[in-house]
Amino acid sequence: MPVLPSSPPLQLAPNFPSRYPLQLLRRYRRERLTMIEEARAMGDVVRLRLTRGRTLTLVFAPEDVEHVLVTHASNYDKKTPGYERLRDLLGQGLLTSEGDLWRRQRRIVQPLFKRRQVADFGPTMTDTARALAADWELAADSGQPLDVAQAMNHLALEVVGKALFSADLRGESDDLGRALHTALQWFMSLLTIPIPGYVHWPTPLNRRGRRAVRWLDQTVHGLIEARREGEQPDPPDLLARLMQATDEAGQPMPDKLLRDEALTMLLAGHETTANALGWTFLLLAQHPDVAAQLEQEVDAALGGRAAEVADLERLPYTWQVLQEGMRLYPPAWVIARRSLGEDQLGGFRIPPRSNVILCQYAIQRHPALWPDPTRFDPSRFAPGWEQSQHRYAYFPFGGGQRLCLGETFARQEAVITLATLVQRYRLELVPGQQIVLEPSVTLRPRDGIRVLVRRRG
Ligand code: HEM
Repeated sequence: MPVLPSSPPLQLAPNFPSRYPLQLLRRYRRERLTMIEEARAMGDVVRLRLTRGRTLTLVFAPEDVEHVLVTHASNYDKKTPGYERLRDLLGQGLLTSEGDLWRRQRRIVQPLFKRRQVADFGPTMTDTARALAADWELAADSGQPLDVAQAMNHLALEVVGKALFSADLRGESDDLGRALHTALQWFMSLLTIPIPGYVHWPTPLNRRGRRAVRWLDQTVHGLIEARREGEQPDPPDLLARLMQATDEAGQPMPDKLLRDEALTMLLAGHETTANALGWTFLLLAQHPDVAAQLEQEVDAALGGRAAEVADLERLPYTWQVLQEGMRLYPPAWVIARRSLGEDQLGGFRIPPRSNVILCQYAIQRHPALWPDPTRFDPSRFAPGWEQSQHRYAYFPFGGGQRLCLGETFARQEAVITLATLVQRYRLELVPGQQIVLEPSVTLRPRDGIRVLVRRRG
């Protein structure tokens, strides 16, 4: 909104207190979630000065989230330090590109993510969940613990591989998952190392990171080359869509852009869904009453079968459980934007080039928005819940024109997987473990979630 000449000058939002230079940066590296929640208690807009040149403007009111993502979205871009780092890995893929290129690329892939098309991926999701349920027999028999977060990562990578690339990534899911994680960790740690040019130093961190990126490049190029050399007609998947698309001049997508889109989809399409499932299993293990209610729904809807797309409407509580899981542990825990021109949020001045942070983790646990905010209670999402909440009090998939492309895909995959596994097993946490939250690009359990698999009934 333009500031009228006669109105008193707006002030900057209050600063998060700090005792000495770089104190906040040090703390932010170690415990950013706690800090952001402390900032939330100070008001709706708070400035966090990490270094002299890097200030985050934290925003906690749903109205302001809507302002940034929807009503004033044209005043905000993705040229934030976090997205710049992500761009080093993902180049000009859909998540990181902007402007005309983003619009054109989104138009190319969007049709594949419409409800009807996503339903075609249903059998792949069902088969993958059924196979995992069969694998877990061994864990149930042996009583050996497994890491459910890692199991969900493998499953989600396998689904994305089959659905979007018609490729069986089962053999590579361990290496691929690890390489993606190492590369992301590398770029994110570079964000909190305030030394210019550090990225070029021959440190173990840099060497490991570069190796991971090389490995990812080779894998993605391998997928593309295999398709080019294949003798079968192209399957109707994402890779075919990208490879067949041409621009106004009839030119195909350059190889580099093809690589960027493919890597973006591998990453965006698996980490987030995997985390949503992993955290939900943790919560179910901690809340047997909710697990029992979920089991009732799943047993009645499926009667012993693995879940399929046609079952989704009979599994509303399963989705509620996942929604509540994503409220407490949003896989994408933060969305960042940079302001282009002068703006105002919550009555404070937002100068041009401010880094504005919309933190799902803090807003979805805001005591003013969610009664008893840390309690796991899927009944919050009973039908009609949207009528009593601001649209942006809950935004695990973002909003506005950059809304997650894979929301329907993720929902379908998560419900099918959760229902299929819950029907046969209940998971118990291995006692004595500490679950540590790692807020990197996604919110993941740093050391995994170790569980014992118990057969039901
Ligand atoms: C529970 C699962 C998921 C969550 C919580 C999630 C969350 C998000 C969020 C918050 C954004 C917006 C980022 C921003 O505005 O800065 C986003 C964008 C995106 N997501 Fe997801 N996502 C999930 C699953 C998926 C899946 C399964 C796919 C693909 C198969 C996918 C593909 C994308 C893409 C391509 C974008 C960029 C869209 C654009 O800017 O045009 N996501 N996601």
